[in-house]
Amino acid sequence: MKEYSVYYESFGCQMNAFDTEVIEGMMLEAGFSSNDSPADSDVIIVNTCSVRENAETRALGRLNDLSRHKQALIVACGCMAQRMGDSLLEAVQGLSLVSGPDNYATLPGTVKDLLESGERRSLTDMDGSVTYPLFPKVENRRVSRFLSITRGCENFCSYCIVPYLRGKVRSKGFEQIIDEINMLHSRGAREVTLLGQNVMAYNSDGVAFTDLIERVISGTDIDRIRFLTTHPRDIEMKIFELMATNKRLCPHIHLPFQSGSDRILGMMNRGYSRSHYINIISNARNIKPDLAITTDIIVGFPTETDDDFKETLDIVEKARFDSAFTFKYSPREGTNAYRIDDDVAIEVKEERLDILNRKIGGIRREILKKLEGACDEILLDGTVEKGENHFVKGRTPHFRNVLLQNGDIKNGDLVRVIMKELRNFTLYCEEDKRR
Ligand code: SAH
Ligand code: SF4
Ligand code: F3S
Repeated sequence: MKEYSVYYESFGCQMNAFDTEVIEGMMLEAGFSSNDSPADSDVIIVNTCSVRENAETRALGRLNDLSRHKQALIVACGCMAQRMGDSLLEAVQGLSLVSGPDNYATLPGTVKDLLESGERRSLTDMDGSVTYPLFPKVENRRVSRFLSITRGCENFCSYCIVPYLRGKVRSKGFEQIIDEINMLHSRGAREVTLLGQNVMAYNSDGVAFTDLIERVISGTDIDRIRFLTTHPRDIEMKIFELMATNKRLCPHIHLPFQSGSDRILGMMNRGYSRSHYINIISNARNIKPDLAITTDIIVGFPTETDDDFKETLDIVEKARFDSAFTFKYSPREGTNAYRIDDDVAIEVKEERLDILNRKIGGIRREILKKLEGACDEILLDGTVEKGENHFVKGRTPHFRNVLLQNGDIKNGDLVRVIMKELRNFTLYCEEDKRR
């Protein structure tokens, strides 16, 4: 076969970013090469997201834009591909292949067929059992890497399209996970983030999530272990005990609460109350006092009143999040919430989002400001140019962003620093040379 080159782009969550790497691994295995520009590529693969309407608008716009590259065979995969199937082929004339998340194993073969035949195809069967192995061929020497440990979600939060597009929960075998982390480590990774829509749903031959974490701690030498995302209904306190006793398990949890109102939480089918959420946080901080907590919040869910929204603000004040992703509710066809009238006016959604973001930003500044003068260990994962100044950037164990004046320190180093000054939301540091 002629060596065809492939250009990749990824929208949506970390799981999509990971999948794009899995696809690249499969394509390399099948004899394709990778390219970092679409202009002279034979194949363009775009991994799409459906979670909110604007995620789809962006992915569609990008697919139409990339259709300018007439020389290339254009492929859409991911969640919007799964949702739209054939209708995506109609919507984007330049598109040749649509592939949902359970069909990536056949992608290289199908792409070859279509390059030769010039046909168009859509693959959206859902298998419900596939997990993909990580192929070592991808030239990615990043120090911080993602690794999906589960696929799918069965929580059916009433607003969410993901369970319909990603299918049933399935877990990767724990031995395979350990092998893959060791492989990433041997290729330069110092940090791994284990991924799943709800990692607490992990179960492989009776090994639950916290068992897996213990095995990862003992079965690998990777410097830092993180995970995303957890669900308040399923969280186990043992995870915080492991953080308290193992430095390599980073003291940060992403624990979306979505709404502070019990009435709205019920309508969202989240399976917990506001007091349960507040209890989790206070118990977790009893076990690990310096725990950093981040979250996701939706404003303007159908019927949300000012009083409901005040309860959301109240959780933000009590929990003191390090940061939060905040979203305006976006109705998704096929979900249960779609049947309820989307009755919160867009101006009200925007106003609530603005109030919420200002509150979160204020608390975030307070948390970071208190760190001025403190010492910590950071993992350097890239460089940043600011005018004349060169910086290396990194993260603390708590997942906070820091910048360090560029000296003889390099990407991938773990360095002791003193956090000198907060500017915007970044802590500017100096290397701590004291012994
Ligand atoms: N599985 C993860 C996150 C999935 S999607 C979890 O449950 O935490 C990421 C975030 O998008 C969700 O946490 C939610 O806050 C938001 N989201 C999902 N569907 C949405 C919708 N229809 N409208 C607005 N935000 C939504
Ligand atoms: Fe969506 Fe809820 Fe599953 Fe998260 S847990 S992916 S919000 S259904
Ligand atoms: Fe988007 Fe699918 Fe992830 S809808 S958020 S890419 S699971």
